[in-house]
Amino acid sequence: MIVLLGISGGIAAYKAPEIVRAFQRRTYQVACALTPDAARFVSPMVLRTLTGGQVLDDLFAAEETGIGHITFADRADVMVVAPATAQTIARLAHGFADEPVSLSFLAATCPRIIFPAMNSNMWQQAPVQQNVALLRERGHTVIDPDSGELACGWTGPGRLPDPERIVREVAALLAGSGRLSGRRVLITAGPTREFIDPVRFLSNPSTGKMGFALAEAARDAGAQVVLVHGPVTMSPPDGVEAVAVVSAEDMSAAVERRILEDEPPDVFIGAAAVADYTPADRSPSKLKKDQPLDAIPLQRTPDILATVSASGRVPVCIGFAAETNDVIDNAREKLSRKGLALVIANQVGTADAGFAHDHNEVHLVSKDSVVSLPRASKADLARTIISTIADLVDNVA
Ligand code: C5P
Repeated sequence: MIVLLGISGGIAAYKAPEIVRAFQRRTYQVACALTPDAARFVSPMVLRTLTGGQVLDDLFAAEETGIGHITFADRADVMVVAPATAQTIARLAHGFADEPVSLSFLAATCPRIIFPAMNSNMWQQAPVQQNVALLRERGHTVIDPDSGELACGWTGPGRLPDPERIVREVAALLAGSGRLSGRRVLITAGPTREFIDPVRFLSNPSTGKMGFALAEAARDAGAQVVLVHGPVTMSPPDGVEAVAVVSAEDMSAAVERRILEDEPPDVFIGAAAVADYTPADRSPSKLKKDQPLDAIPLQRTPDILATVSASGRVPVCIGFAAETNDVIDNAREKLSRKGLALVIANQVGTADAGFAHDHNEVHLVSKDSVVSLPRASKADLARTIISTIADLVDNVA
C-alpha cells in the first residue's frame, strides 16, 4: 500500500514526520509532496530520511525530470493531504497545479482524503466551507478538523487529528472500497509447541511471517480478520483480532469455536505450520536426564484445515504446502484430499526463502491452474495471494 502524503504550510506541518511513521508502522510505504510553505515548517531532509528519498518538494529541481510528480501520483494507492491549509484547499478545489501538492492531487486517480487544519475563524468562513463542499461533491473525503487548543491561541475547531487517527481514517476509507470489504477471514499462523514435559517441546522453525503478512493484506482489503497464531515473536498487526495459542490442540479448539459461530468466516487460510504429532503422554514433571528415554510415543494431532473444509461451513478454504520435493504434485494431491480452493506451495530447504525468511517463492495451485509467482517479499506475495482469494470469493458468491 503506497500513501502519497501531501503536506501544506500550516503550523501542523510539524507533525508530518509523525504521520509518516504512523503509516509506516502499519506497513504502508510513504512518499511526500510538500508545498513551498510546508518546506519552511518541516524539513524535507527529515522526510527524505524517513521515506528513503521519496520526497517531492521542488518541481524544478535538477533531479526532477519533469515526470516525477506524475510517477508519485500514479504509484499512490491513496493520497492524503495533511495538514490541508485554507490556501491548499482552495488550490485543490479549483484545479491549480502550480506546486507539488496540488499538481499531484490533479494527477492522481486514487482515492484522496483531506485533513484541513487552520484557525477556527478561517475554517468557518464561507470560501473555505464552499471549497470543502466542492471537494466532497467531487467524491473526495474531507475529514472535519478536531476541536481544541490551536497554535494561534484560539480554542475551537481547526486542529489536525493525531497521526494514529489519520491512519485509522485512511485505513477505513481504503477498507470500505477494498475487495474483501464485509468479509470474514480466519487465518492460522506460526508454529505449534507440543510439550513432552513442562520444559521441553516438539516444534518447527516457522516464524509466522507469511500468516501475519496475509492477515495485514486481508485487513487492508477490507476484511474482518481473526488471526489464530502459535508462539511467535512478532506483535499482531493493528486492526486484526489476534488469538494466541500454544499447541495444535489449542489451535484446533480456537478455530473450531470461530467456525461454529452464527456467522462463520467466508475464508479460512491455514498458514500455520501445525505439528503433525504430539507426545501421547505429557509428563507432568520434568524428565530427568538419567531417566532412561529411548523413544517418545507420539499420536496424530487434528488436521485443522481438513476439518474446517469438511465442515462445509467455510466456502473458501486455502492451505499451504511446504515441500522438499515434487512441490506441485504434492500440492495437487493436498488440494483434492483436503477439498481446498487453493494451495500455496513452496519448496523448503532452499537458501533465503521459506521458513523464517522475509522472502519466498510460491506457486498458487488450484484445480485448473498453477501460477508461479517470482521471488518476492512476503508482504508483496500476501497482497497477490489476497487478490487471488478475492477472485475465488467473488466466484462462490
Ligand atoms: O497435510 P499437510 O500438513 O502437509 O498440510 C499442510 C496444510 O495443512 C497447511 O495449510 C497447514 O496449515 C494445514 N494443517 C492443519 N492442521 C494440521 C496439519 C496441517 O491445519 N494438523
